[in-house]
Amino acid sequence: MNEDLRGRQTKDGIRIYEAGDFAGMHAAGALAARILDDIAGLVFVGQTTGAIDKRITEMVEEAGATSATIGYKGYQHASCISVNHVVCHGIPGDKTLKDGDILNIDVTVIVDGWFGDTSRMYVAGKLPRKAERLIQVTHDALMLGIEAVKPGNTFGDIGHAIQSYAESHRMSVVRDFCGHGLGRVFHAPPNVLHYGRPGTGAVLEEGMFFTIEPMVNLGRPETKTLADDWTAVTRDKSLSAQFEHSVGVTADGAEIFTLSPGGLFHPTYTAD
Ligand code: MF3
Ligand code: CO
Ligand code: CO
Repeated sequence: MNEDLRGRQTKDGIRIYEAGDFAGMHAAGALAARILDDIAGLVFVGQTTGAIDKRITEMVEEAGATSATIGYKGYQHASCISVNHVVCHGIPGDKTLKDGDILNIDVTVIVDGWFGDTSRMYVAGKLPRKAERLIQVTHDALMLGIEAVKPGNTFGDIGHAIQSYAESHRMSVVRDFCGHGLGRVFHAPPNVLHYGRPGTGAVLEEGMFFTIEPMVNLGRPETKTLADDWTAVTRDKSLSAQFEHSVGVTADGAEIFTLSPGGLFHPTYTAD
């Protein structure tokens, strides 16, 4: 039988994992987070996003793990690197980073069949004040969303926590992309929306594994996808930020699988 069809599922098709499955997710999440820690020094003015991605590819190999993104729907890189007004799915390449650029680096690895998916923000050179606010609010919105994770709460509670916080700072939440269930697969039900009303949506149960990965814009929420079929940008060219954790629902809250071993998830800092 297909791995993903084993075990219990809710009526919404959300898989309920077992207590012993948390260890596998922890190992995969820890590797993804460590990679994001270890590449921090590679983010500097004049660096190419392609060089950062190349190092990520090597680190996944050195760990004896597999990149979940290489070969995924034709994608050819071990990371997505989304600079400034790129919302997500930025393709690493020859473009060099400029002073004050902010970037999200998103890595997903497979360890012993378990998926670890995380992203965070970095800066090249000096962080502009407006970008700093955006990054802070996006980070805090994610953490507030995670605080809403516990059995009995709903996915709408998570979305509401994120949306109400971001909008209280006059920023907007992207609607065109969402978090997702994961575990022994990359993308599974449910769609984890980063907006919503309290008490709506599926009810959280112990043993659910999913990502929360809000994208927050300084301007309007609308996005468009470029001709490369991957790069999503803000329609109004405003700056966008994103943070992502993979989490599991425990008896009384959430376990974050992708915690930074070095405590570097936030804040951002410069390498030069
Ligand atoms: N890691 C992304 C996510 O958070 C997905 C990237 S798919 C890719 O779900 F193909 F663009 F890499
Ligand atoms: Co994800
Ligand atoms: Co991701």
